[in-house]
Amino acid sequence: MGTKPLVERVDACFGAHIHDVDLRHVSNETFASLRELLTEFGLLVFPAQHITLDEQNRFAAMFGELEFPAAAITNIDIDGTVLSDQGHDTVKSIRGNEGWHHDSTYMPVQAFGAVVSAEIVPPDKAPTGFADMRAACAALDEVTREQLRGLRAKHSLYYSQGRAGYLPTKNEAGGYSMYGYHDKPVPVRPMIKVHPDTGIENLLIGRHAHDIDGMDASESVELIDRLNDEACVGDRIHFHQWEAGDVVVWDNRRLMHCASEFDLTHPRRIWHTRIAGSEVTELADNYR
Ligand SMILES: [Fe+2]
Repeated sequence: MGTKPLVERVDACFGAHIHDVDLRHVSNETFASLRELLTEFGLLVFPAQHITLDEQNRFAAMFGELEFPAAAITNIDIDGTVLSDQGHDTVKSIRGNEGWHHDSTYMPVQAFGAVVSAEIVPPDKAPTGFADMRAACAALDEVTREQLRGLRAKHSLYYSQGRAGYLPTKNEAGGYSMYGYHDKPVPVRPMIKVHPDTGIENLLIGRHAHDIDGMDASESVELIDRLNDEACVGDRIHFHQWEAGDVVVWDNRRLMHCASEFDLTHPRRIWHTRIAGSEVTELADNYR
């Protein structure tokens, strides 16, 4: 069996579908090809893989240490009920993800990326959007890019979920128990970050970004909103229409992603394995 995967580009300036690879058995040689393809394309889609969660975690761990193993992103409650109540914490979390973002920029170490598989797909496919922050950075005018090179922003889930009106219910201690709501210092990150693998500049923005250093609040909101809006358009975005069994992996240092609104009366379950970023290159500035 050959080791060179068959690559079919998607209709965007990044992203590819990968065929002729069985993710249950990835040799070191095949992995080396996939790792290179991830650097080149940012998003790899593997249709109809139907792997188990153990196989998914094993594949994800080939890229590096895991931030967390396969976790369900779903509107199916533990008792099997399909949750569509907009006031439910799980639904609030799902809805919040409709804003473009990088994963775990609100944590001390931003994620490397993720491997996600689809188990239950609703009729409208609940597509996931991806957006290329390398291309978005390159498309900026030089004055703006030079301005951004000197700027840093805070990243927090309290901010993003609070602004969207989707903060969860408080626990007995008066805080939030869901992942990402920590009491450590709010991570501060550069707005343009050099990608550790390519050496190319990428925008580091999204819904978790707020309060740019040295700017007043309204100026900061205005700039971040404008960058988010202008970055995620045209051939810099691609929406993956899920089919059950699909697996995707993306580079979270280059791409932003977002959930799309879907009919919550239908069950949906995807599984997200998050790959940890490097403490050398993805640690927040104020943690160094
Ligand atoms: Fe996400």
